[in-house]
Amino acid sequence: MNSASLLIVDDEAGVRESIRLIFGKQMRVLEASSSDEAVRKIRQETPDVILLDILMPGTDGLETLKQIKGIHPEGQVIMLTALNTARTAFSAKETGAFDYVTKPFDVDELRLRVERALEKTRLSRELEQLREEVGRKYGIENIVGKSKAMLEIFKAVSIVAGKKSTVLIIGESGTGKELIARAIHYNSERRSKPFVVVNCAALPDTLIESELFGYEKGAFTNAYQRKVGHFDIAHGGTLFLDEIGEMGLGTQSKLLRAIETETFTRLGGTEESTVDVRIIAASNRDLEKLAKEGGFRADLFYRLNVVSLHLPPLRVRREDIPLLADHFLRIKARENSMPSKTLSAEIVDCFMTYPWPGNVRELENLIERLTILSPNETVLLSDLPQAMRNQDQWATLREEVLRGSCPLSDAVDEFERELILRALQKSGFNRTKAASLLGTSRRVLRYRMEKLKIIESDPGQDDSKMSR
Ligand SMILES: Nc1ncnc2c1ncn2[C@@H]1O[C@H](COP(=O)(O)OP(=O)(O)OP(=O)(O)O)[C@@H](O)[C@H]1O
Ligand SMILES: [Mg+2]
Repeated sequence: MNSASLLIVDDEAGVRESIRLIFGKQMRVLEASSSDEAVRKIRQETPDVILLDILMPGTDGLETLKQIKGIHPEGQVIMLTALNTARTAFSAKETGAFDYVTKPFDVDELRLRVERALEKTRLSRELEQLREEVGRKYGIENIVGKSKAMLEIFKAVSIVAGKKSTVLIIGESGTGKELIARAIHYNSERRSKPFVVVNCAALPDTLIESELFGYEKGAFTNAYQRKVGHFDIAHGGTLFLDEIGEMGLGTQSKLLRAIETETFTRLGGTEESTVDVRIIAASNRDLEKLAKEGGFRADLFYRLNVVSLHLPPLRVRREDIPLLADHFLRIKARENSMPSKTLSAEIVDCFMTYPWPGNVRELENLIERLTILSPNETVLLSDLPQAMRNQDQWATLREEVLRGSCPLSDAVDEFERELILRALQKSGFNRTKAASLLGTSRRVLRYRMEKLKIIESDPGQDDSKMSR
């Protein structure tokens, strides 16, 4: 609070002087003797609190208040009124004044009110900062990608953000559906209003309805209190319906109605509430197909599908992998207060061939683990989990064959050896089970094992191939 500032706007020098005496020690006190001077100082200094005299010759205090609110909305204004102008003070509060104090004022009371106003400014500044941070985090510049598919997505996000249309985001798990939904929200005019997430897969259908629409007291046995639903909470903002493919058909029709009419009724209620909510839905299932098969309402699908974004899996946009890896190396180092690591060339090669079933999330988690656990500044292939390194082994082998440095028959033998070893390991070194897993007979398996010189070793033994 040491850098707090207060502006006193009063045409009487005596009043300004006494205010300076009261607050001069704790904060910076600025003075203005007219409305024009006040506006000028507010523009330059953006004081936290403004004490504004309602009655000054030649100007209307209420007009000045409006002007102040226009140029510096975060500044809290306390009106100074004479007793007989208290009525005007009421309108002042309606115009956006924080408070009013009647003259002659009581010093303690004035202090208290100024403190409260400062607290309000501090809170709203903090909130503003937080919002900016969150907004920056979900700014398009923080969503990484240079593949054609992702550039198309970025373009769509910036176009669609400014509209109210419903958006459907389809993509495998971990491809960035929620990230894109947040980016749309934080790049829209709704950014200062809530972004509310409802995960339709996490709740049984009956609960989803009460989560979405809320209920009145006594709506059902355990409804002891009225509950506000997510539609209400998201008013003015965005409602993100994640995993919408999991929503039951009954809830789907209620949702469709709410979207189309922009009204809904709480469970057990009779009154209709009007809401202004933007809907973004996401699914990792093909909703169109699901709708054709009867698992999803076709009318809701068409209503949601006004704009649809398809997030491609990471394995089909490999050019984004190094970029994402760099991005996460920086972020994870910062988040964990550790120096940022680099990846060896072999690791990048391995990343480029690995199929990434968990998509971007898998890459992000892996980099976080490597940042924290890898002992070297440059992360080496040996720091990777076994499963990924094996993957790399095949990539290397394939390159070797194609380069002419390894005969095809050797590569095929290597592949067969690997498969047999894995099948044995998976079946607890039971040859009959391993053979059936591989779709062959026990006799053929034994023959192949002899040919490939596979000697079964105890799983406890330190044989790198067997311990995989
Ligand atoms: N293009 C990207 N740039 C930067 N980070 C990304 C990108 N795509 C995804 N991420 C990050 O990857 C993680 C997974 O993304 P998100 O949660 O949005 O995926 P999702 O599709 O909703 O996954 P799920 O279906 O599993 O819920 C998040 O931490 C997100 O920040
Ligand atoms: Mg998600």
